[in-house]
Amino acid sequence: MNLTLKIWRQKNANDKGKMVDYKVNDISPDMSFLEMLDVLNEQLVNKGEEPVAFDHDCREGICGMCSLYINGEAHGPDRGVTTCQLHMRMFKDGDTIYIEPFRAKAFPVIKDLIVDRSSFDRIQHAGGFISVNTSGNTIDANAIPVNKHDADDAFSAATCIGCGACVASCKNSSAMLYVGAKVSQFALLPQGKIEATDRVLNMVKQMDEEGFGNCTNTGACEVECPKGISLENIARMNREYLSAALKG
Ligand code: SF4
Ligand code: FES
Repeated sequence: MNLTLKIWRQKNANDKGKMVDYKVNDISPDMSFLEMLDVLNEQLVNKGEEPVAFDHDCREGICGMCSLYINGEAHGPDRGVTTCQLHMRMFKDGDTIYIEPFRAKAFPVIKDLIVDRSSFDRIQHAGGFISVNTSGNTIDANAIPVNKHDADDAFSAATCIGCGACVASCKNSSAMLYVGAKVSQFALLPQGKIEATDRVLNMVKQMDEEGFGNCTNTGACEVECPKGISLENIARMNREYLSAALKG
């Protein structure tokens, strides 16, 4: 396939940035999207030009680093996949592809297609953990019975990889799906109940302080989430928040 790429180039956080056109030829439909960008970067390096900066790590849908907005969709046109799992067979010979960074006030661009998602880390630090006694008297987690339905829902919530596609696809740049998943994975388990009140209050407070918008139930986040995180997690977080706020 021969393709035209229109890519957001931005030297640093202060640069204004602009879309720049590139051509790539002989792209195999079996390549991943990131491999196609590797081909482009090899061409640029061979010409002595600056390669396009983009985030990636595992390249197998686990780490959540590959945060690209492709033709106006987070992680591109396929469903239930990250950009590293997106195949070029989703495009046609002669296509023009627009590639931009995830856009949100709380995700400032660092360079080209790389954004700073440390706001997610700060939300996690605010309460996305359980405190465990590690003195040697720790009770084996398996010793506490957990209802199968709750265990399945907690596991589903825990599959969130923190990619930020939910924020990028929301017209309000809301992080409610992400925070809902992180609150739910503990709220559903007995181990998470002890710190539940502080957890939800602190995580929501941090989410607001980071500049994420509010949820207006459009559901774009659920559609674009590569891990199929359900809107039920937002509802559960709202219930947890109300109950924690009433407890004071
Ligand atoms: S909820 Fe989905 S889209 Fe949002 S950060 Fe988690 S995995 Fe990514
Ligand atoms: S590079 Fe890790 S999920 Fe894409």
